[in-house]
Amino acid sequence: MRRPSVPPRRGPDSVQTHLSRSSEAGRPAFWTEALADPPQVYGERVRFREGRCYRRWDPFRSKLSAALARGWGGRLPRPGERWLYLGAATGTTASHIADLVGVRGTVYAVEKSVRPFIRLLRLAERYPNLYPILADARRPEEYAGLVPPVDGLYVDVAQPDQAEIADRNGAYFLRDPGRLLLALKLASLSRTLADVELLAAARRSLGAFRLEGAPVALEPFHRRHVFLELSRREAPSPEFRIERAPRRVARMRPNLDFLGAGYR
Ligand SMILES: C[S@@+](CC[C@H](N)C(=O)[O-])C[C@H]1O[C@@H](n2cnc3c(N)ncnc32)[C@H](O)[C@@H]1O
Repeated sequence: MRRPSVPPRRGPDSVQTHLSRSSEAGRPAFWTEALADPPQVYGERVRFREGRCYRRWDPFRSKLSAALARGWGGRLPRPGERWLYLGAATGTTASHIADLVGVRGTVYAVEKSVRPFIRLLRLAERYPNLYPILADARRPEEYAGLVPPVDGLYVDVAQPDQAEIADRNGAYFLRDPGRLLLALKLASLSRTLADVELLAAARRSLGAFRLEGAPVALEPFHRRHVFLELSRREAPSPEFRIERAPRRVARMRPNLDFLGAGYR
């Protein structure tokens, strides 16, 4: 692992942000200052200002950008922080979070499907602060040795037990105080129950967390998705307070031979 033994910065830099805003056709647009060179990750637009490169953060491709576009004003990942990201897929949103935490921060990106994970690995070659982990987020104990306590947990797994997955990983990894950002896909929970009931059930599963602000509906960017910002209700139990000595994260190189040469 490159530098998690360095604690996140808490000085004036912690309020510095790598986010920038603009207006397009009267609507807000968001950009993150690109950490990687070359900057494009998913075909997003880029612009240069005063020697810096910014990547447009597409709200149709990222629930966090959609939440910003819908007026969410919560606490974004800050420079120097460590974030654990569950459901990283090919790294679209994870790359913007990596931009936000900057070179002194780290994003531990968990993805369980091999195909998107291969692209995530490639992305990590350009993003030195992005650590891909091929694992099932339902089993945090399997990557507990790779991930130190984190400042934030971002969850976008689109699974029926997404709130339980968030709760469990929060108990394992989230520092006190720590933030949980959860993109809740209501359609994954039930097609019959009303959204308000589904939200209430998810909140019950997240009993260890306090809701910060109101849930944000992500339409028209993401259908039947709600974005939640939560913080710990109380300090984690003592066994989760142990600061594990960070070990080196081996860049996971699964045996991908069965996919054929096209995926190398
Ligand atoms: C909606 S996509 C994520 C999109 C991504 N967060 C972004 O904004 O760029 C959900 C991802 O979660 C992954 N996923 C689902 N269940 C998972 C689990 N139990 N553990 C890890 N990843 C999981 C899926 O393979 C998929 O890539």
